[in-house]
Amino acid sequence: PSASDPWRPAVHLTAEKNWLNDPNGLVYHDGTYHAFYQYNPRGNSWGNMSWGHSTSKDLVHWEQQPVAMEASPQEEIFSGSIVMDKNNASGLGTAQNPPMVALYTSAYGKNGALPQGSQAQSVAFSVDNGSTWQKYKGNPVLNLAPTNNNFRDPKITWYEPGRYWVMTTVVADAQVVKMFKSTDLLHWDFLSDFSGVGAQGGLWEVPELVQMDVEDSTAKKWVMLLSINPGGIAGGSGMQYFVGEFDGTRFTAENAAPADAPLTESQWLDHGADYYAANSISGAPGGKPVLLGWMGNWDYAQHVPTTPWRGSMAIPRELTLVRGQKRLELRSAIAGVAREALERSSEVKSKNLTVGPEAQDLGADFASRTQLIELEMDLTSAREAGILLRRSADGSASLRISYNKEKRTVRVDRSKAGTSNFSEKFSPYHEVALPSSGSDGKVRLRILLDSSSVEVFAQDGAAVISDTFFPDWDNTGSSVFSMDGNTDFTVQSRAL
Ligand code: FRU
Repeated sequence: PSASDPWRPAVHLTAEKNWLNDPNGLVYHDGTYHAFYQYNPRGNSWGNMSWGHSTSKDLVHWEQQPVAMEASPQEEIFSGSIVMDKNNASGLGTAQNPPMVALYTSAYGKNGALPQGSQAQSVAFSVDNGSTWQKYKGNPVLNLAPTNNNFRDPKITWYEPGRYWVMTTVVADAQVVKMFKSTDLLHWDFLSDFSGVGAQGGLWEVPELVQMDVEDSTAKKWVMLLSINPGGIAGGSGMQYFVGEFDGTRFTAENAAPADAPLTESQWLDHGADYYAANSISGAPGGKPVLLGWMGNWDYAQHVPTTPWRGSMAIPRELTLVRGQKRLELRSAIAGVAREALERSSEVKSKNLTVGPEAQDLGADFASRTQLIELEMDLTSAREAGILLRRSADGSASLRISYNKEKRTVRVDRSKAGTSNFSEKFSPYHEVALPSSGSDGKVRLRILLDSSSVEVFAQDGAAVISDTFFPDWDNTGSSVFSMDGNTDFTVQSRAL
């Protein structure tokens, strides 16, 4: 960030210029992380959808590469995924040099292979480690009959017991996930539909099925990640998930919220407004799913005041599946590689203090625009306590992160945090109830503050709130507060 580009993230993926949305084709190969993404090479709002490309060694510092696949009047390149076809089952590479294979959605224009407006799944491949891409001659490889205008977002998972690939896709406006299988990534057979549970209030998009270990047990489960727009828990677009079993044909969710249940009964990957279309990095080391998500919301993403770029990715996350009070739940953490990179960057400043009715300024050590903060609060007699970030000298502006002891809720309030007049749909605050406070009664928040975003991982990632906001460049203060009683704070921060 700089005074002339004040909202440019320091530790999140952005394109140098122009619009981006969903991450696509996330793959780890030969020590490099590849992120492809929905990208408009010709402008600062959604359109001419192409696959942009960036690479990284540590999931924090990214290098932009040439556009991988560019829109044409006949075909836009919508979301999809990539796998390494190690055995060259597709025949698109050679045994010595196996191909990277992308499945993407063709969104057809005039004179395309299918009628204008229809969507189908197509293949592209690279035999030079993702640098250049060729489209497969037999595209599309998967189409519905009759053709459908909302059939999209193929994500591929290897199903070891059956030794085949499974593709999840959606018919977005019918709120259905459709699954298919293939042994060569080119010929796909229908397996089953998944529908009828969880939030239904918008398009279902960007589905993914991942297998996960259940923490502290030998059990494994399958988790369906699913984006919904609108109808998310924080308004506009958001991400829900389902835990269950997959038998090679059918995914069955366990303890899922019924379709007519209140939104709070569904399980959400994030309770902020800006986390969408996340999917996992194929082949990422470490044995846990590592997700990259788009830090935007379809309610207002096209209007956020950044230029010449618009759109940023969230910090990569690692998921763990644990037993909650009622059902299995996901925990989210900053991905290990990314966390190491963040923690390498500077020394830790820390402060212990007891705060009463007067808010206390944290001083110069905590005045960075970008920082990784560990906040521990013991609300000994207080009702509510928290931290103000990017605070103006007169106190009228700040981002407010608070915990309410009675309701056990964490709230991120961005209503006074900066420019917000670009959209009436830029929601003021987001809140989540924690399953329980720590066994020692303390509340722990890991806060990643970047130039125009905050990601709050509460209580070891039991809940996350990701929000964008657009503060004044000059506002760099931080302070802590405690209401109606005292709170003991431990604050640690690394400037980024
Ligand atoms: C989700 C989405 C996808 C689609 C892509 C188009 O944000 O709408 O369903 O493939 O974006 O850019």
